[in-house]
Amino acid sequence: MRAQDAVPQPASGNSRSSEAGAGWTCGTPGRYEALVPPRTRAFSWWRPGTLLRSRNDVLAHVFGDPSDDIRRASLAALTERGVPAAFTVQRREEDVSFVLMGDTGEGDRSQWAVVPALDRIGAGTDFLVIASDVIYPAGDTADYPDKFFRPYTNYPGPIYAIPGNHDWYDGLRGFLRVFCDLREDHARPVFTGFFGPLARLLWRRPGAVDDAALDAARARYRGAPGQQAVQPGPYWAVDTPRLRIIAIDTGIAGGIDRDQGAWLREVSAGPKPKLLITGKPLLVDDERRPGPIEGGGTVDDIVRDPAHHYVAAIGGDIHNYQRYPVKVGDRTLHYVVAGGGGAFMHATHTIRRTRSVDEDAFRCYPLRGDSLSRYSKLYGAWTRLPKLFELTPQEATAAARHRLGIRPARGYGDAPTPPSARAKFVAALLGVPRGNRKRTGLLRLPVRRVPRWFRSELADWDRPPFFKSVLRLDVSDGELRIRCFGVSGCGEHEDAPPVEDEVTIQL
Ligand SMILES: [Fe+2]
Repeated sequence: MRAQDAVPQPASGNSRSSEAGAGWTCGTPGRYEALVPPRTRAFSWWRPGTLLRSRNDVLAHVFGDPSDDIRRASLAALTERGVPAAFTVQRREEDVSFVLMGDTGEGDRSQWAVVPALDRIGAGTDFLVIASDVIYPAGDTADYPDKFFRPYTNYPGPIYAIPGNHDWYDGLRGFLRVFCDLREDHARPVFTGFFGPLARLLWRRPGAVDDAALDAARARYRGAPGQQAVQPGPYWAVDTPRLRIIAIDTGIAGGIDRDQGAWLREVSAGPKPKLLITGKPLLVDDERRPGPIEGGGTVDDIVRDPAHHYVAAIGGDIHNYQRYPVKVGDRTLHYVVAGGGGAFMHATHTIRRTRSVDEDAFRCYPLRGDSLSRYSKLYGAWTRLPKLFELTPQEATAAARHRLGIRPARGYGDAPTPPSARAKFVAALLGVPRGNRKRTGLLRLPVRRVPRWFRSELADWDRPPFFKSVLRLDVSDGELRIRCFGVSGCGEHEDAPPVEDEVTIQL
């Protein structure tokens, strides 16, 4: 282990050991507040403009997802420019370290809260990877200065990325311009059939690209020679002597195109251990989402094939941390969700008692009790019924334990108090499943008919505890060590971000 791998740990411990470790009782305010640029508006999913800019999501699901065609046209241009078809960056270091964050780009406090902790977590790493949703709400080039270049000005190494669905809402124009230096617009979706003209009319086209503004932002915030990188395409591989890191672009709907599928099969071959990074996780909320490949097969088939030697698959898209160590034959594959890099938080209390792995082997951050308590406070504030809704972390933990039948990591002693009738009611209302059932009985009530993504995206807040998370991956001495650091936004955690989960994999 290199000396800089040691990240100091806080006296409070982590969220599994104390409420202070989760950030419920901030001793000192975080200095991230001072970093937030003046006149930054809190990013809100309530604004009609935000939803209107993200409309291509709905259109792609109704009229068909044009991402594959746009990607093909863009890649043809990149290949013509001379990018080798392997889309692979070679690195010679035997030992390599990098940081991985998913779903970063809201540009407000929830993103900036991560920045001071990143200085600590990223110290001594070789590069940083952003896995999905670099820019909210719609990947615009105009948003890159404030939501990408400026926040990561202190990160000294190159940043590679894969796009998420939000980056695709401008036809990937901003992403390809910033990360691949592709200056021409290939975002011309083809819609055919009876509704084609209507789809073309409604489809949001990317805005004009101000090259001078982008170049100025890069020069001002990330202009150092060590920070520069042009990645081969929206999907890519970084090949190191011990581990091949393979990153795929899952577009808007979560599948990959035929050409990318063929490339993935090719770079997955051979005995070298591999790590997959994907926009959409393959196992999330205890459900498998294998990721279809155009023309047949799935991404998960490729990952599970023993001939390919994958050790883990990490996906963004869902804004929290989850890890499922799944037995596949005689191997253990770690399926990780790592979307806690800056945007609003998706609830973890809606995850049932796990079936895909033993509940005791499952890890999530925030803990389900903390997630339920955070949401109960939000609902209390919205409805102006705090006395009905608000649950303390301890009450919420007891209610989650009761409904799910789990042994919470932070258990409040050997003989915890049973939850009150009110706590049980609020837990049911806010979607804590019963045991390992898929859905709750209250699903049929109108409050539960609102899709989950909608409820969670409206549940954005800008004060600690944020429950953001950043991963650090270190390859050394034939091992891959993955650590998940929690980011609460509390001052005492900024210089000592608590390790919330850690796993070491033999390569
Ligand atoms: Fe996201």
